[in-house]
Amino acid sequence: MRVILLGPPGCGKGTQAEIICKNFEIPHISTGDILRDNVKRGTEIGSRAKSFMDSGSLVPDEIIIGMIKDRFSEDDCKNGFLLDGFPRTIAQAEALDKLLKKMKIHIDYIINIDVPDENIINRISKRLSCSNCGDVYNLMFKKPKKEMVCDSCGFKLHQRDDDKEEVIRNRLEVYRKQTAPLIQYYNKKIMNVDGQQSINEVTKDILKILK
Ligand code: AP5
Ligand code: MG
Repeated sequence: MRVILLGPPGCGKGTQAEIICKNFEIPHISTGDILRDNVKRGTEIGSRAKSFMDSGSLVPDEIIIGMIKDRFSEDDCKNGFLLDGFPRTIAQAEALDKLLKKMKIHIDYIINIDVPDENIINRISKRLSCSNCGDVYNLMFKKPKKEMVCDSCGFKLHQRDDDKEEVIRNRLEVYRKQTAPLIQYYNKKIMNVDGQQSINEVTKDILKILK
């Protein structure tokens, strides 16, 4: 199964992706996670991407498309994948179309998680992330069992560099200008899910679409 998860920053793409990918045993491909891993390891991609990420702007298409091509060539993508945070511009969507055509595969589901801006700022400003295993928590909606410690791996939790309120506002603006046009681009293929519900309810709605 091949899935694209669309939606504004903080709508719950990463949270839902983890659950869906476990359920269907497919790899979770998050361009944001790949970029953060590159920044952490100090790679050339990481140093080129960091200033864009810190300001909440998009990393140039050519870097992202190259990363996706490399990721698709890995063995675990043969039986499907879930894309989280890619594509994010029309140019990326067109590059993805070309790549899929060349690989003779297609996307089965495109799901858009819809959440209004005021909920997003509230959610992201309370998000805690694990820089070791990537698990995501929330001080209001998904607390770790032990304060500031990851339930899964025991590492210390932290706030992402781009989760400050002024950066979140810029990310939302960038989303409206550069990513929201994808809803029109994919048009009838898109299935909308109400992301204002609890994490469990959102999962249920997504599973109804995928089953
Ligand atoms: P990326 O990492 O993709 O960030 P994003 O799109 O801004 O999305 P987030 O990860 O912030 O939110 P999410 O939707 O995953 O929500 P989550 O599940 O964590 O990108 C970061 C940066 O990298 C970009 O700004 C850009 O610079 C660059 N980048 C990445 N991809 C790119 C691309 N393709 N092209 C160019 N640049 C790219 O949930 C958020 C919080 O809410 C959590 O605390 C969670 O616990 C909580 N939560 C989740 N669901 C619910 C719910 N239903 N109710 C209550 N709380 C909930
Ligand atoms: Mg995410």
